[in-house]
Formats: sequence, C-alpha cells, structure tokens
Amino acid sequence: MSHRSLILGIETSCDDTSAGVVLNGRTLLSNIVSSQDSLHHRFGGIVPEIASRRHLEIINPVIDEALDKAGVKFGDLDGIAVSYGPGLVGSLLVGVSVAKALAFSLDLPLVGVNHIEGHLYANFLTDETISFPVLCLVVSGGHTNILYVEGHGEIRVLGRTRDDAAGEVFDKIARALELGFPGGPIIDRLSCEGDPSAFSFPRALMGEEGKLDFSFSGVKTAVLNCIRQRTGKERTEKGTDNVFCNVAASFQAAVVDVLVEKCLLAAKQRSVKKFLLAGGVAANSELRRRLRQRLEPEKIKVIFPPVELCTDNAAMIASAGYYRLQQGITASYDLNAEPSLGLGD
Ligand code: KG4
Ligand code: ZN
Repeated sequence: MSHRSLILGIETSCDDTSAGVVLNGRTLLSNIVSSQDSLHHRFGGIVPEIASRRHLEIINPVIDEALDKAGVKFGDLDGIAVSYGPGLVGSLLVGVSVAKALAFSLDLPLVGVNHIEGHLYANFLTDETISFPVLCLVVSGGHTNILYVEGHGEIRVLGRTRDDAAGEVFDKIARALELGFPGGPIIDRLSCEGDPSAFSFPRALMGEEGKLDFSFSGVKTAVLNCIRQRTGKERTEKGTDNVFCNVAASFQAAVVDVLVEKCLLAAKQRSVKKFLLAGGVAANSELRRRLRQRLEPEKIKVIFPPVELCTDNAAMIASAGYYRLQQGITASYDLNAEPSLGLGD
C-alpha cells in the first residue's frame, strides 16, 4: 500500500447518513453527517422505513460533499469502508450497496466495518498516542459494552448489557417526559439544572462482585413509574420544570454511577494506561466528568472524542477501514448487511 492512503467511509446503520474521508487512519479530512432527527422527532423514536428512504435520497450528495470538503476526487481514493452491521437492515443496505458500487466502478478495495468497532476508532482520530492494550466503553443507543482491545480487530467483550442499552433508556425517559428525540442531549442539558439526589433510582448489578455486565431495564421502569406518579398532576402546576430537571438529573446519576463503577472495576482487572469512551452516550457531560474523576487517580488517562465523533459518523468507519486494509482484510462483492452482527469474544 502506498504511504499515503485515503479512505472514504460510509455510515448508514441507523438514522444518520454520513460520509467522510480520512488520511492514514488518523487525519480527518472531512466528516459530513446528515441528521434525520427532524424527520423522526414527532414519532419519539426512529421509524426504520423513513430512515432507509431518506438514506437513499441523500447518500450521493453526502458523499459528493465529503469529497469536496476533503479536496479530493474519486480517483484519489485508496479504499471504500462501510459499516455493514449491526443496525437497521434497510438502512445498512443503502450504505453497503453504495460502497459496493463505488468499489467496483473505481476498482478499489472494499472493507466491511463492524459499527460498534467503528465507534472505538473515533478515538484514533482524537488522540495520536493510543497504543494497545486499551479498554473502551462503547455506549450508544443500541449497545453498552466494555471492551478489552489488544490490537486492531483483537477485541474481547468483558461486559455487556443484559437488556436495554443506556442510550435507549435516555431516549425512552425523554419520550415519557415529552421532551423529544434523541433524548440523551436533552436529559444531559436538563440535568445541569436538577438535583441528582432528589430521587433514588436503582443501580443494578453493582453488588455483583467482579461482574462487568449491565442492566438498565430496572432503572427505566423505576423512572417511568416515578414520571407517571409525579409529573401527571404536577404538569399543569408551576414548578413542573423543576420536577423534570430533578427526575432527569437523578436518572442520569443512576446510569452514570453504574457505568463509571464498572469501568473502574475493568481497569482494576486489566492493566492499561488509557481508557477510551465511544458511542453516542460518550457525549454525556456527566459521564465524561465522572469517569475522569474516578480513573485519573488510578493513573489511567481517559480519552473521549469530540461530541460530533461520539455519535454516528463515517470518519470513524474510514479510520477502522484503514487499519483493516493495513492487515490485508477486504470484503468481496457479496458483502451483505448484517443487522445482528456481534463482536468477537
Ligand atoms: O452512537 P449513536 O449515535 O447511535 C447508535 O449507534 O446507537 O448513539 C445515539 C444515542 C442516543 O440514544 C442518544 O440519546 C445518545 O446516544 N446520546 C446521549 C447524548 N448524546 C447522544 N446520551 C446521553 N447524553 C448525551 N449528551
Ligand atoms: Zn452508533
């Protein structure tokens, strides 16, 4: 492979249509993300049919914009990387089909990237000095995993959620409070005005010695019950905002407590110098603050990408694709969308 390698990344696994160009796996040249939030907002969640149709309409202009912004042409590219799972099948198929068509017509190598693994690579675009082994909490709308990464593609899942993903619960709570979608950023903002000790919500599996799994269905039910009991009558009264802020802050504190304690436990079990955060929920200001506060006294540096690289984006897919290509791993034209793709144990 030439010294200078330009990879075009394509990401359409959920509701964001994204294309980005990355140089040598580390230098972000462009990262265009067309959000569909306004289309799904009134449904309080993602409507898969609407998502895939919108990807189809917008993917070509998004790719053109990514090339323009990077100042490159199709002919300058060295490879095409695409996330092929996990995600919504109709959404994934749009990205996979476009990537295959481009790779074929430009005669370039095609690389399939696991979306969760892709999130990890947002950190390679953030910190120049990451070396293995490293621990990573990938926490998004669909996943909550603690990963031990010994090398590119050498990933061990140390802990995972047994039910809901953390981001999914942020979205459901925001929906119950009629605050809109996606819920994470809204709850994050409201929490700053609320009292995190106003309500006591459960912290599941905290007591299980040495265990790194999560469970968020209990806290979800407790918060939803609390909202039904408290906000129903208070919604019409003055002071509603205050109740909302307190519920949000107390809920966020419960989730962050569990995430941070399990990360600390993982860090004590494995010796690493750096701990990476990734995925949409890694944008959470309290999670970032508390994780640093807990891990830095242990001499572990906490690294997290800027907010726009935490949520779904194609630059992270291009970075992951570059390292796969370096290892000589490519996909054939029968690459297919895999909605339930897992991470190797
Ligand atoms: O990684 P992502 O864009 O998509 C998935 O792969 O799922 O993550 C989206 C999730 C949503 O559930 C959203 O509510 C959550 O990330 N999120 C946040 C914040 N920003 C986005 N959760 C908590 N705090 C935030 N600031
Ligand atoms: Zn994601």
